[in-house]
Order: sequence, then C-alpha cells, then structure tokens
Amino acid sequence: MDETEIPKKLQNEDEETISLISSLPLDVDFDGTKLFKYQGYWYNDKTLQGVLHFQRGFEPKDMDIIIASFPKSGTTWLKALTVDLLERSKQKHSSDDHPLLLDNPHGLVPFLELRLFTETSKPDLTTISSSLRLFSTHMGFQTLREALKNSPCKIVYVGRNMKDVLVSFWYTNCAQLKIEVERSILDSIMFESFCRGVINYGSSWEHVLNYWRASLEDSKYVLFLKYEELKKEPRDQLNILAEFLGCPFTVEEEESGSVEEILDLCSLGNLKNLEINKTGKTLKGPEHKNFFREGEVGDSKNYLTPEMEKIIDMIIEEKFRGSDLKF
Ligand code: A3P
Repeated sequence: MDETEIPKKLQNEDEETISLISSLPLDVDFDGTKLFKYQGYWYNDKTLQGVLHFQRGFEPKDMDIIIASFPKSGTTWLKALTVDLLERSKQKHSSDDHPLLLDNPHGLVPFLELRLFTETSKPDLTTISSSLRLFSTHMGFQTLREALKNSPCKIVYVGRNMKDVLVSFWYTNCAQLKIEVERSILDSIMFESFCRGVINYGSSWEHVLNYWRASLEDSKYVLFLKYEELKKEPRDQLNILAEFLGCPFTVEEEESGSVEEILDLCSLGNLKNLEINKTGKTLKGPEHKNFFREGEVGDSKNYLTPEMEKIIDMIIEEKFRGSDLKF
C-alpha cells in the first residue's frame, strides 16, 4: 500500500507505525470496510490502531485477568460471571449497588484494543482497580501474548460453535447499523467474508484454535471454556472458572446456594431485563441491548441453509484436523 493511502485515523501515528501499516496486506470486509492483516488476523483501521497501541504500551501486572473471545461467542456472559465471582465476597446479590446492576458487563470489563488503547498507548489505568485488574480482548492469541511478555496473568477464553457465531454476528451487525435483519445480507457477502476469515478479527477457526492450543500448552495461564458447555452444565463450568481464578467456592458457599445466585444474576433473561442493559449505551458505541438476544445453542439451524452448513462444516473439519477440538 502506498503511504498516501493510509486511512485518516492512522495518519498521525509515528513513522515506524505508518511504515508498518503500509506494509500490511489489505482486503475489504463484507460492508466494504478496509481491513489490514496483522500477525495473521484482519483488523479494521480503528481496531488495528488499538491493537498497535496496546502492544506498544501495555504494562501487565501479575494478577491481571484477561477475558478473550472471538466476537459473538459469549463474551458478555463470561464477563458477567467473572465479575460476580470476584465480587461475591464484597457484594450481596440483593444489594442495589451490585456492579452488574449499575453497569453493563462491557463497562465493568473494558476491552483493551476497543476502548482503553484506541487513542493512546498510555491510557490512565489507575482508575480501574487496585491489585486485580480485569480486561477483555478479541485479539488473536499471539498478538495478546506478545504484549503480555512473560507475565503470569491469566487468560480465560470462551469459544462457540462458529455457525451460531455467524448468525449472532449477522443480527448484531444489522442492529448496530440500524438496518433490517435481512437474509440477503447473510446469504451473500457476509457468509463469504466469514468463511474466508476476512472480517474484523479475522478467521474464527484460527482464533479459536490458537487459544485452544495455548490452553493445552499452558493450562495454568489459559483456560478454554465453551459456550455450549456453559449452557449445558453451568454449575460445573462456574466451578472450573472459580478454581482457575484462584477463588474456588467454599463448602459453605456451595451449601448456601452461592453458585446458583451467580448463575441466576448472570442469566441471559436476568441481564437482558436489567434497566442498565435495556437502555444504556457503551462508551464507544453499541447499545447494551444489542449484546443480548436468544442465547440458544444451534440457533443457526434456523437460518443457515444446508449448503451453508455443509461449507462451514467442511472448513471446520479441515482446520481442526489433528486437534481434538469440537463444537
Ligand atoms: P445470540 O445472538 O446467539 O443470542 P458476545 O457477548 O460475545 O457479543 O456474544 C453475544 C451472544 O451471547 C448472543 O448470542 C447473546 O444472546 C449471548 N449472550 C449474552 N449474554 C448472555 C448470557 N448471560 N447467557 C447466555 N448467552 C448470552
């Protein structure tokens, strides 16, 4: 790419960054947005800027926890569960100032590249919390890992069946663009872009696979959860998450129904109906209500044609061959 073609958003970056950006492969998303391929994943200009700032300026702390996911995989749910797990000793569920009643999970667990590092590589993180900081990201594993250096901070990833991710992505995009949820959008170019992995954050299969491998290599630092298992056996999965984060449930908590309380507070039905989620808006754009829809496993069957399903199944089979990852 010619340096004069650098998007306006990125023109004020330093020379080294401009030169890096101009060397990146280019393509376009389903809606015509320019995408750049960086460290194996495609990003739009705004996201790329956040990713580069983050890599340049993030200073990890040993106790940091990072929630990672490909978009539309259950990020909001995992954020809510994590917040509630960590807050449970401080806040009663019945209390009016429980954080989940006052803010959307995305406000409580900010995205690194989409919120904190969008404009600067040195955001003020002192307001976040004292020792324990909770962040989130949709970045690919290697890109995240590079910035974490050798820090022992923990990463919790949630992966989801890609067909359901695609349908959720279609709904959310239409809601955000405030357009009708039309089949033609899914059928044509969105499906193709998704299958090629040329959308913001790139290929969902590579994304999930890289975090999966990382969790096998380093299970103390990377926990891999599946949306489908969270739905099927929420109690067990919450226990796994609590153990991983170093805050397992005590026998008294188990007996007093603490696990169920967390699951109830964080259920889709409950979160969706909280005032803050019905009417609020995130700092950087999307309305809170857009993060909550059906939350069904296998919902894609209602929308994808058998041919579309077959194509995605074939891609998954090829990409996941040799790994024992299944959705
Ligand atoms: P659907 O569009 O299939 O309903 P993300 O949080 O990564 O953006 O993912 C959004 C998906 O998670 C949406 O899926 C949404 O309905 C679902 N979701 C949001 N909150 C949830 C919750 N508390 N429990 C279960 N699913 C939830």
